[in-house]
Amino acid sequence: PFPLYARMRRETPVARSRHPSMEGPIWVVCRYQAAVDFLKDPRFAKSKQKLPKESQRRYFRVSSLKHLDQHMLSADPPMHTRLRSLVAQAFTLRRVEALRPRITAIASQLLDQLQPQQQVDLLDAFAFPLPITVIAELLGVPVEDQDRFREWTTTFLTPPKDGDLAPLRRMAQEFQTYLQDFLARRRADPQDDLASAMIAAEEQGDRLTPEELMSMVFLLLVAGHETTVNLIGNGVWALLQHPGQLERLRAEPALLDSAVEEMLRYCGPVRHSTSRFTTEDTEFHGQHIPAGEMLVAGLLSANRDGDVFPEPERFDIGRQPNRHIAFGSGIHFCLGAPLALLEAQVSFRLLLERLPRLRFAVDPATLRWRDSLLIHGLERLPVTF
Ligand code: HEM
Repeated sequence: PFPLYARMRRETPVARSRHPSMEGPIWVVCRYQAAVDFLKDPRFAKSKQKLPKESQRRYFRVSSLKHLDQHMLSADPPMHTRLRSLVAQAFTLRRVEALRPRITAIASQLLDQLQPQQQVDLLDAFAFPLPITVIAELLGVPVEDQDRFREWTTTFLTPPKDGDLAPLRRMAQEFQTYLQDFLARRRADPQDDLASAMIAAEEQGDRLTPEELMSMVFLLLVAGHETTVNLIGNGVWALLQHPGQLERLRAEPALLDSAVEEMLRYCGPVRHSTSRFTTEDTEFHGQHIPAGEMLVAGLLSANRDGDVFPEPERFDIGRQPNRHIAFGSGIHFCLGAPLALLEAQVSFRLLLERLPRLRFAVDPATLRWRDSLLIHGLERLPVTF
């Protein structure tokens, strides 16, 4: 997509576009400064309740996600503030740092299970199980069910084939029933986990409704793994595509943190932000945007804007400064950023130490990117080591 993004940025800061899964237009904010301004601008609303009925029909043909949608990423202040502050404590740098030994143990164990000389899909064998195990343990949901979470999440994030919404509806129903059963078990028998802590908050009074609680677990489970999977996968892809940078990192392990930041900029796992809407006719960076239309920030595009990043197409693990917006900006800035960074740093340290001969098992030109408006990730990543 990068040549297309470059063309869009040359032509306009905010491009009007379409997607076959939606009736209405989608405005893509593709230049860096405009994207930051957009993500911080309270005129762009998240809450669907603020939309005229006609816009709701044009953009949301699936209503089955309703009970899973009462979370912070779909809310504006003051509801957003209340929901986010309920869990923010669990994701601070200090709390996350305490997970380092456990994350290292999970990652090491996954690498122990790899068979040398054999071709493996690094997404299946490592990049997926690591973050899902971490977030499942944190929340208290059974780690054994990870394959179901993966299937559900993939269905949510892939545009429906031929407009057929039936699989999406079925998955939403299954996921919802699963979460209801899980939360019922935790209510009856609380444990030392984040779900039980949130149930306690819910029971304290009017702070969290049952739908909000279920949506919170849903959001953390989905946002807590799908993105990190692809940060690890895309990062390995970028290093193998740039052997000089890989050698540099092996020679200078102190560059690890900055290398992860450059992976986020150069090939971040989130293609566009989630959507926002105009609630009235709005002027923004020279465009007139009618009321009730959808906008997204083009994060991959903004992160290659030459006005901000010198030589934006170059993958440079020592890049300084590197003010990418792969985690978004403004009040919805990624809550899990410290956790994602820690998981990636631990992963790349171990991958470099333990797999000194890591390489692609297929011609990298044959690798395919997933079809998703939100996620930027490979379908498969076959490697040998
Ligand atoms: C929000 C990216 C990992 C939880 C966001 C947003 C982005 C993002 C771009 C803002 C979306 C928008 O404004 O529309 C990423 C990336 C990750 C990652 C690139 C990994 C490399 C995680 C993890 C968690 C998490 C591990 C686990 C807890 C969240 C939550 C929000 C969010 C709860 C919503 C925050 C709010 O609405 O206030 N993330 N994320 N993310 N992320 Fe992440």
